[in-house]
Amino acid sequence: MHHFAYQAGRLACEGVDLARIADAVGTPCYVYSTATLQRHARVIAEAFQGQDCLIAFSVKANSNLAVLATLAAEGCGADVVSGGELKRAQIAGIPASKIVFSGVGKTADEMELGILQGIHQFNVESAAELRLLSKVAARCKSQAPIAIRVNPDVAAGGHPNISTGKKGDKFGVPWAEAEALYAEAASLPGIRVVGVDVHIGSQIGDLVPMRAAFEKVVGLIQRLRAAGHDITRIDVGGGLGIPYKEGDAPPPPSDYAAMIAEVSAGLGVQVILEPGRVIAGNAGILLTTALYEKEAPDRTFLIVDAGMNDLMRPALYGAHHDLLPLTEPAPDAAQKTYDVVGPICESTDKFASGREMPAIASGDRLAFMSAGAYGAVLSSAYNTRPLVPEVLVNGDRFDIVRRRPDLDEMLQLEQVPDWLNRTD
Ligand code: LLP
Repeated sequence: MHHFAYQAGRLACEGVDLARIADAVGTPCYVYSTATLQRHARVIAEAFQGQDCLIAFSVKANSNLAVLATLAAEGCGADVVSGGELKRAQIAGIPASKIVFSGVGKTADEMELGILQGIHQFNVESAAELRLLSKVAARCKSQAPIAIRVNPDVAAGGHPNISTGKKGDKFGVPWAEAEALYAEAASLPGIRVVGVDVHIGSQIGDLVPMRAAFEKVVGLIQRLRAAGHDITRIDVGGGLGIPYKEGDAPPPPSDYAAMIAEVSAGLGVQVILEPGRVIAGNAGILLTTALYEKEAPDRTFLIVDAGMNDLMRPALYGAHHDLLPLTEPAPDAAQKTYDVVGPICESTDKFASGREMPAIASGDRLAFMSAGAYGAVLSSAYNTRPLVPEVLVNGDRFDIVRRRPDLDEMLQLEQVPDWLNRTD
């Protein structure tokens, strides 16, 4: 469910006509819906009511400060993977006690930051990381609370580029080595073992692989407890899929929560969730303007002003994003089949192939739907295109929550070295 819909023939976000935003801010531009973010956070919280649960929004999905502040007000914590994300989460009002720090490549500086801030948990991904964390924590005269991220060797399904829980993926500690690493962790100074962590992938449309992974982890928790470890938390990661197009029917959060309650029944652990996409994905869109139509012998290209640098998902994963005109097409509007492409000098700068949709005229504005997760965060300034602005809607109000940098500002970050500054 989201709050983008046609109202009197015009696509609106909550109470705001999206054309107004396009006029005021220009395109391309991301637009997020407060009501949708709140709704998704609440649906998850309600699904887990009665379970001891921390909803740590996965900041990598959408790290805009205003989005994070919206979720902080809903009581969400954060799952971060860098010192930068940690700082954002705290600035947005998320207390360190609700922040978990994931990622395979934490630096000593990032560890120190997390320790000094007093975060809830480090999710450790290797023996080498564990040993460094021990040294850093001991130096800080502190105890770092840790879970070890285990690799359960379970295929999540979905796109291989976003599967993380199979043997051979770089994520987590190999299943067979987990118990030995817990034994080492218990012996290290500066380390306090608190939990077990797992995350098998993203955009998962089926609870079966998740259940298989969590059941394995519950078995591991029982063995670890028998070996004397005080395991009080299970971190089940993120990964729940969302509908991107008609007919997609991912499992509802209530089924997901019921499955977790069943699998972890009787364990008496805090459940940590790291949802990203399921909260932010359908809460955002990317506005774009049609520039040109171009006929090729076998197809028609629709060239829009957004590029793969603004929304990478189609180029990276062949991902589908619905594309809706801001003006609602008449029911009998002429249909046309397009390859929808951007202005970037790459053949992968393609949003859709053979997409049947209402005929579009140059200057028409459109919205790429379901772009609120892994949209703006993955964008770049490739082809010296300034990062696109982000707008947050709340009821009938909207505000720019990241402005478009101007070109001079971008270029000021660079300098030509002295030896190239010719004076002759
Ligand atoms: N926790 C960990 C350790 C993760 O690696 C991820 C996502 C999440 C939580 C959040 O997963 P979610 O609930 O959003 O599925 N760029 C790709 C997705 C990459 C996901 C990376 N890790 C895409 O656009 O589909």
